[in-house]
Amino acid sequence: MHDASITRLGPEPIALVEELLPRMTLREKLGQMTQHAYGVGDLEQAHRSVEQGDVGSFLNAGTLEIRNQLQRLAVEHTRLGIPLIFGRDVVHGFKTVFPIPLGQAASFDPALVERAAAAAAHEAAEAGVDWTFAPMVDVTRDPRWGRVAETCGEDPVLTAALGAAMVRGFQGQHLADGKHVAACAKHFAGYGASESGKDYNTTWIPEPLLRDVHLPPFKACVDAGVMSVMSAFNDLNGVPASVNAFLLQRVLKQEWGFSGLVVSDWAALMELLEHGVTEHPKQSALEAVRAGLDMEMATTTLRDHVGALVDEGLVSVASIDAAVRRILGVKYHLGLFDEPYRKPPTVSVALSAPHRAVARELARASVVLLKNHDGLLPLRRGLRKLAVVGPLAADGANQLGCWAFDGEAEASITLMDALASRLPEAEVSYVPGVSDTRSLDTSAFESTARVVASAELGIVCVGEDALLSGEAKCRAFLDLPGAQQALLERLGATGTPLVVIVMAGRPLLLEPVCQHAQALLYAWHPGTLGGEAITDLLTGAACPSGKLPISMPRAVGQIPVYYARRNTGRPPKADRTGVPKGTPLDPVDFDSSYLDLEVSPLFPFGFGLSYTNFGYAELRVTPPRAPIGSRISISVVVGNRGARRGTETVQLYVRDLVASMTRPIRELKGFRRVELDAGEQQTVSFELGPSDLAFTGRDLEPRVEPGRFQIWVGSDSNAALSASFELV
Ligand code: NOJ
Repeated sequence: MHDASITRLGPEPIALVEELLPRMTLREKLGQMTQHAYGVGDLEQAHRSVEQGDVGSFLNAGTLEIRNQLQRLAVEHTRLGIPLIFGRDVVHGFKTVFPIPLGQAASFDPALVERAAAAAAHEAAEAGVDWTFAPMVDVTRDPRWGRVAETCGEDPVLTAALGAAMVRGFQGQHLADGKHVAACAKHFAGYGASESGKDYNTTWIPEPLLRDVHLPPFKACVDAGVMSVMSAFNDLNGVPASVNAFLLQRVLKQEWGFSGLVVSDWAALMELLEHGVTEHPKQSALEAVRAGLDMEMATTTLRDHVGALVDEGLVSVASIDAAVRRILGVKYHLGLFDEPYRKPPTVSVALSAPHRAVARELARASVVLLKNHDGLLPLRRGLRKLAVVGPLAADGANQLGCWAFDGEAEASITLMDALASRLPEAEVSYVPGVSDTRSLDTSAFESTARVVASAELGIVCVGEDALLSGEAKCRAFLDLPGAQQALLERLGATGTPLVVIVMAGRPLLLEPVCQHAQALLYAWHPGTLGGEAITDLLTGAACPSGKLPISMPRAVGQIPVYYARRNTGRPPKADRTGVPKGTPLDPVDFDSSYLDLEVSPLFPFGFGLSYTNFGYAELRVTPPRAPIGSRISISVVVGNRGARRGTETVQLYVRDLVASMTRPIRELKGFRRVELDAGEQQTVSFELGPSDLAFTGRDLEPRVEPGRFQIWVGSDSNAALSASFELV
């Protein structure tokens, strides 16, 4: 449903744009299609290019002053005075850094994620940013890929809900109110399926999978009114995304009616030569315009060659006008024609108390409690002596994670800062153990072990430095880097109970970690308020509620391991556990499994413990039998059966039992967070409509087929409470 009160691009002509277009020369139009990367190349030359109308946009223009100075050149020194649009990667916060997107996804809380995006937008807008290159809504099932940190994980429904929430947060109701920025759904499309988890790698995605898994989050962003879409670096089914007419023209612009602008990723048009699909930049320009690309990031292929292509009759002016119309439309909706400059705020909202409160709340909601042996957490009152170990426990920079250029390490509250101030009655000693997460130096192990041995409890914070995830930061091994595992083993040998906190940009292999952890909290990279939020959970001031947005593998060899797999003709035996790891001692049946490892992940999608526990009952499906096209209502009673207040994420999974195409054994179709007092219960309802039950058929058309559907409702993707309905 479209909310009419929201600033929205539509197909209707914008008078100002229609009045400008006929007055523009072809060169000025191509200028609009060019985005210059500030700081790359000669600055004087960049200024001249602006004055000549050869640039329509900048990315990374630095400060507000630089932005306004460039804007002045465009508005006051060019023939038509068309304002520039300034873009930047505001991915998970600006000055106030929120958890990495993968952490945000663990909150399963679109409303909270929307508030964080709105706060980030306000901080960025007051610093002169018009346009963020976010949200990233690539679905990925490969934790080796460094950019998994920027995703919302493995599931299309969760990613779609959170991506749309981010769009709403970034863009707000009124894009031009000075508090919001245009959003950009990226990377269109299929980037998350990069082969072997290497960045920029080839993707081959059959159309049914593309349409059922990889495209829905982009569609959700388009429906939420996203102003722009970024084409991906990867080649999809042999055609690089920036010249992929199927993606840009057919799906995005024709089928979905997207009226915003499509920007390439950085230098992606030049990279067509490396892909080996074009021989010369001029051919790249031709392919890009024909495919429906509107703006080129960082390079000037279009600007340099489209003029000649128009002269040769290979490109029509109408197709260039169509691109420019989209670009000017976004500038118009941002209010840049009315107010091209940004004034410094009288009172800045950067790192303001309300923004820090959102960061703390979201960080808290993002942490997943994976193990809590004997209820070690929350920490019992009266602890006198604590040892805190691990480089990440006192590292304000690394807790911010990847893509946090504007964040300030000094503004971070680290775990040590928070513990020291929140447990004043306890003696809290800190020893890093190793200098950073990648260090192989074990020389401090013995002295560290002595500190832990003399404490009642050890809190060990391990994981990945921020630079181990993000763009081009892929890993073939997913163990704790450096000597951290050995450190953990040494500390485990002291006999002091250990609470392990992992800060990382991806799922790591946790089986060896679990062996030494009585309790395990997965905190991702939690952002500015990370230490405070984790301390809230450790002390019991808050109750963990995060759920895994991606499966945690047991071994790299299992990847991709994800809950929505297909059954195959020989499904693995469900009860096959305890397979000896790495040693094929126990031959399995002729089924779809491993000789040397269990097939299940270590922790499934949707999993996360609490300090209380929840029970499910009275699952009802109405009607149990209905004609195709009907809506099915599902309700369940969720009760807090523990002794304290807590939040549960109720999850609904569906399986289409028999269909003309094989269907996943479970698909998430709904989720709802409910906060319940001890002993309280609540009825939670879901509705399933035709679009929830549809899949892409053999004819590549969406279809819902008659037959039985099984549903499960519960705490994670292994939920047991089940019912079924039939469509006739
Ligand atoms: C390349 C990245 O792939 C993309 O996500 C980012 O927005 C651009 N660079 C701009 O920094």
